[in-house]
Amino acid sequence: MKVQLFIDGQAHLATLGSNLAAALAGLPGRCSVSGQPRAALCGMGVCFECRVTIDGQPHQRACQRVVYEGMEVAREL
Ligand code: FES
Repeated sequence: MKVQLFIDGQAHLATLGSNLAAALAGLPGRCSVSGQPRAALCGMGVCFECRVTIDGQPHQRACQRVVYEGMEVAREL
């Protein structure tokens, strides 16, 4: 079952219950404050390279969260 989530204000479809880091994988990545490209690395909650804001809660690890209807994700740039 597909659900709609919002990534940086843009609507996207993803499979309900799928991993958020996987849903973000096909999108252009975020950058660190020094301009270095960043994306999920370990996939198991250790490296924090997948940090995003979810429904207003900052510093959430996308690899540890599942997608749900109406999820609002802001990549931390
Ligand atoms: S990819 Fe390493 S903490 Fe999420």
